[in-house]
Amino acid sequence: MILFGASGHGKVIIDILELNGVDDIVIWDDNSVTPVWGYETKKPNITQLSDEPIIISIGSNENRKKVVERLPAEANYIVAIHPQALLARTVNVDNGTAIMAGVAINPDTTIGKHCIINTNASVDHDCQIGDYVHISPNVALCGNVSVGEGTHIGAGSVVIPGKKIGKWCTIGAGTVVINDVPDYATVVGNPGRIIKTSKKD
Ligand SMILES: CC(C)(COP(=O)(O)OP(=O)(O)OC[C@H]1O[C@@H](n2cnc3c(N)ncnc32)[C@H](O)[C@@H]1OP(=O)(O)O)[C@@H](O)C(=O)NCCC(=O)NCCS
Repeated sequence: MILFGASGHGKVIIDILELNGVDDIVIWDDNSVTPVWGYETKKPNITQLSDEPIIISIGSNENRKKVVERLPAEANYIVAIHPQALLARTVNVDNGTAIMAGVAINPDTTIGKHCIINTNASVDHDCQIGDYVHISPNVALCGNVSVGEGTHIGAGSVVIPGKKIGKWCTIGAGTVVINDVPDYATVVGNPGRIIKTSKKD
């Protein structure tokens, strides 16, 4: 099992893997060879990646996407789900995504590739979460919310039902989103207001 990224976020994913009975972990990192909790850390050896299970443990949505673009298209990405997360039967979670402790995801929600659904986040029914999204701790997404590729929803934010948040947006910690959010916008406050827009994908 390869974990790409010897980060603090990586430690959270190692914990999830161990709780799921996985302990044959090797960490790849471009900038560190310091072992984490005794697990070997080394430079990535991308040409030798075959069908070995792998997950990218990098918190930045942009940098996770860059790593995926370096790796072979057929890489065997796993989904890491904490045993204390609650997912309804009809939730669909795509490859490479990590779901932390205390998360609740309600029916008919879809979660894209390489997402982070962080500790105690609540994602209600019929939400559509794009690839490379990070839903931070204690976020509440109400029903029928959609979130575009690469968007980061900051800790403790609330999104009221049916709102559409575009791609590569940043929603500040504690924001209450009551309107749709256009692509690349940064929104903060209650009610949420746009403070800047930046093109970055
Ligand atoms: C939104 C955010 C990305 C803005 O960061 P930034 O681009 O560096 O912006 P600044 O800190 O320069 O703030 C710009 C303005 O927005 C305000 N602002 C920033 N974040 C805010 C927030 N969460 N809520 C309300 N206002 C906020 C600042 O007070 C400042 O206002 P001013 O221009 O009147 O002084 C950041 O503040 C934030 O909330 N990040 C989320 C972090 C998080 O939840 N991480 C989870 C990790 S698991």
